[in-house]
Amino acid sequence: MSSAGSSHPSPDATTPWWKTAVAYQIYPRSFCDTTGSGVGDLAGIARHLNHLVLLGVDAIWLSPFFTSPMYDYGYDVADYCDVDPIFGDLAAFDRLVADSHERGLRVIIDWVPNHTSIDHPWFVESRSSTDNPKRDWYVWRDPAPDGGYPNNWIESLTFGPAWTLDETTGQYYLHCFLSEQPDLNWANPEVVAAMEDTLRFWLDRGVDGFRMDVVHLIGKDPALPDEPAEVAGLPHTVLNVRPETHEHLRALRRLLDGYDGDRMAIGEIYLLDTKLVAEHYGDNDELHLCFNFPPLYARWNAASWRARVAETESVLGPIDAWPTWVLSNHDNPRHPTRYATDLHLDEADTERVARAAAVLLCTLRGTPFLYAGEELGLTDAVIPDERRRDPAGRDGCRAPIPWDPSPTHGWQSDDNWLPWPPHPTGRNAVDQIAEPDSIFHLYRRLLELRKSAPALRSGDVTLLEAPDGVLAYERSLDGSIVTVAINMTDDEVEWTIPGETLISSLDSLDGAGRGALRPYEAVVVGQ
Ligand code: GLC
Repeated sequence: MSSAGSSHPSPDATTPWWKTAVAYQIYPRSFCDTTGSGVGDLAGIARHLNHLVLLGVDAIWLSPFFTSPMYDYGYDVADYCDVDPIFGDLAAFDRLVADSHERGLRVIIDWVPNHTSIDHPWFVESRSSTDNPKRDWYVWRDPAPDGGYPNNWIESLTFGPAWTLDETTGQYYLHCFLSEQPDLNWANPEVVAAMEDTLRFWLDRGVDGFRMDVVHLIGKDPALPDEPAEVAGLPHTVLNVRPETHEHLRALRRLLDGYDGDRMAIGEIYLLDTKLVAEHYGDNDELHLCFNFPPLYARWNAASWRARVAETESVLGPIDAWPTWVLSNHDNPRHPTRYATDLHLDEADTERVARAAAVLLCTLRGTPFLYAGEELGLTDAVIPDERRRDPAGRDGCRAPIPWDPSPTHGWQSDDNWLPWPPHPTGRNAVDQIAEPDSIFHLYRRLLELRKSAPALRSGDVTLLEAPDGVLAYERSLDGSIVTVAINMTDDEVEWTIPGETLISSLDSLDGAGRGALRPYEAVVVGQ
């Protein structure tokens, strides 16, 4: 056996970039403000690209920066082909793409195909009369015979009815999210053509791919039937599984494949069943990648994670669909916050778990997606009632990123759209980078190791028998083997893994001791 990082022929030359990349999600409002608006902007992202290069990620995914009235902070788009002035303008976007590409960073942007804003000119026209040419661009229905909602669907953000009555014409329109986010009617070919044009607009500007927002929703049962009684009350988003969606996805794939440079699509398939998620890869002719959320919702224990890894492998492996892994994003409490709440962890143990989770995320088979700030070990901000912004209560994970220890932490002011996450003096980029043992440098070393160890990037994964409470797996490629062991408990566990320890999540904290895994310690071992 040879050691990790030795000279194995890299399979990467023929592998598309999105299989070997590590991606990093940026929520533009919260990354860095350069204008004094208290809201982050595109120039703020450009300012910190070198931070991402130092960290070692390969691609950035930008949450929406398009023109929007911001009822859902940009996921309600009023113009798909322009930049909201709060974030900058098209020239700033072009500069950001150029600056990113110059540094070898790919750029993925968010595309929101299921719904527009109520302010989108298409909807303004559509709602103006029943015979407007754009009436059928959205989903309009008469009231039920008793005057009530056309069906029993529930929307996803406030769990109210998915229908709003429009007084002008006396019909209801469908919205799987807020009433300010009317659903487009993808059964209308004019809608398909118009939305495909929005993709071309950004492809022509040089973007490398799209994160497609709730894209499993675009095909709908034309009969819009009631949800069955046993699932009535669940939002329609988690229930919509339709053949029409697959037809649309195949067409979108053809469009992307018509461009050079491995342009890609990752779908936010918000179906909480990996088998249903897997269908959206098609026969390698639909989405290139899909987010798979069941692992994000797995609790921090070895049995849950073992089950998630096994399921992902058994479902995606046989169809040759490449997995993705994500622990945090802009829709959920950050994972250290979730695990700390669930397990009643103090701050020191929260940090240990965050470090072990970094090892997990960066060593599984598939493309990891980091969420801005997780490399700093951020936890959620505490949001006082009077500062709540999001109707769905997702503010905590959207707190501004603290860049330095100064009172404004690299922003223009101390008073921004949301409060800081805990301990911004200390837990900020400058201080974390200055501290060689910080979680930032753990992420950096993990990403460096991925680059030098083909087994970690592209190798198979095999779950190993391990002591209770320990998740262990092997990554292997062409005889090169890397073993990962994660003690998910707060007890020391005796277990010797033969080989050379390449990374310990805790070395920097405690000094290495082999023959045992310390509480919440994760190790990467090369054989
Ligand atoms: C996705 C986004 C979420 C948004 C919703 C509606 O789930 O991640 O932030 O609210 O779609 O667009």
